[in-house]
Amino acid sequence: MKRTSWVFTVLVAVVVAIGTIVVSYLPSGAQSLVGKEELTMLTSPDYPPYEFYETKDGDRRIVGFDVDIANYIAKELRFKLKIAESDFNGLIPALQANRVDFVMAGMTPTPERQKNVDFSVIYYQAQDTIVSPKGSTITKTADLSGKRVGVQLGTIQETNAKKIAEKVSGIQLKQLNRVPEIIQELKAQRIDAAIIEDTIAKGFISANPDLQFTSIPPEGPSGSAIAFPKGSPLVEPFSRVLQQMKDKGEVNRLAAKWFSASTTAAAAEDAQAPAAPKGGLNLDFGRILPDLPFILRGIPLTLLFTITSVFFGLIWGTVLSLLKISGIKPLAAVADAYTSIFRGTPLLLQIALVYFATPQLTGYNIPALLAGVLTFTLNSGAYMSETIRGGILAVDKGQREAAMSLGVPYWTMLLDVIFPQALRNILPALVNETISLLKDSSLVSTIGVVELLRSAQIVGANKYIYFEPLLFAGLIYYVLVMALTVAASNLERRLRKSD
Ligand code: ARG
Repeated sequence: MKRTSWVFTVLVAVVVAIGTIVVSYLPSGAQSLVGKEELTMLTSPDYPPYEFYETKDGDRRIVGFDVDIANYIAKELRFKLKIAESDFNGLIPALQANRVDFVMAGMTPTPERQKNVDFSVIYYQAQDTIVSPKGSTITKTADLSGKRVGVQLGTIQETNAKKIAEKVSGIQLKQLNRVPEIIQELKAQRIDAAIIEDTIAKGFISANPDLQFTSIPPEGPSGSAIAFPKGSPLVEPFSRVLQQMKDKGEVNRLAAKWFSASTTAAAAEDAQAPAAPKGGLNLDFGRILPDLPFILRGIPLTLLFTITSVFFGLIWGTVLSLLKISGIKPLAAVADAYTSIFRGTPLLLQIALVYFATPQLTGYNIPALLAGVLTFTLNSGAYMSETIRGGILAVDKGQREAAMSLGVPYWTMLLDVIFPQALRNILPALVNETISLLKDSSLVSTIGVVELLRSAQIVGANKYIYFEPLLFAGLIYYVLVMALTVAASNLERRLRKSD
């Protein structure tokens, strides 16, 4: 490109960027009635038909009963609705940390929760059920004696199951993060029954005809309400709109839309799927076929993630390794301590710490993707620093002495003589590190980054199946790693030839 057109392109980009920022800050026509233009709602989209991912045409959107209600309230109170997600057991902590404005997740107001958050009026009633494999003899709570029972972590179903366990002997509780995982455990017969709300159970049952459910008497409070940080000024206006919606029959209309449509939709979907063969490998990839583009769209993020982390990790690792061989004791000690900490603790823990502790410590609400890249850079820098240090030390001493005696300055020698040789020595180790990073990138799915693994989980949650999307994601990881391996061995061959 000619120089002038370069300048022009950059200028246009800058103007467009500034324009976008200015426009987004211009006051929009309708004034919000709640003081803030945009409110963030947090939900746990594993709960069809309250909230779940719709993954049409490779796109994803959180939809459902709760989302429709939120949109209605947003229109009435004239704010812009933004939706974020987390596992159910992370919802209340997020409200307490004031990270979001409200939570809608089919959440039941309980005295325990009321100590930590505020609730709106209840907008919908639900009842617990026991879900079990078809033909099972479990029809009432007393039948749960001696059984393994699945519940979602942090829900009232968990509390209720504990209450039941006080009365019925030998219940073994299994707490899982997401409802689809419970269903999968049930189908794999690793649990004998699960306690799930009726509205949710219906959808899962019609998608999985090998399951059945039966309603049980309430153990405590039930029904759904909107949750807010303690003392939030939103409670009153939200409750007012909810009450209007109930009075006008709007809630009932939405319930009819979601609670029957989802049942029939799931049932219809299942009717289309070829009957699963009994026994053996009963996999059914047909049902996730329309969602494959969606899963594939997780690839760029996974790659971006890996490449950025390797890149910065390499730079950071080089800095650390230079500190280590600098001969300056305190610097080397710091670098060594750093390495030992990052190699001595689990990566998963580091991710969670960076993501959850940063806002608390610094007040900066770090985005999940950034938290991931940061952690991976810090972590892989520790590993790479050792590799690089080894690579540098392995370069023949004679080379260094030769360069020195020729009067080559230290930094030039390091950059032009030592580094290129060291790099070639450590290439296999770097490829290993990159492969690990590529696969470990799946760990950021735990903080809500929708990369490859997370995309597969979303499809699973959405289609009420768990196994097939995961298998497919596994295949993609494998192909990516193979491609990387081939590319690396080509590079190595070429480097060796240039000797
Ligand atoms: N109503 C139950 C509770 O408040 C379960 C809600 C689960 N919601 C979800 N999105 N997974 O504990």
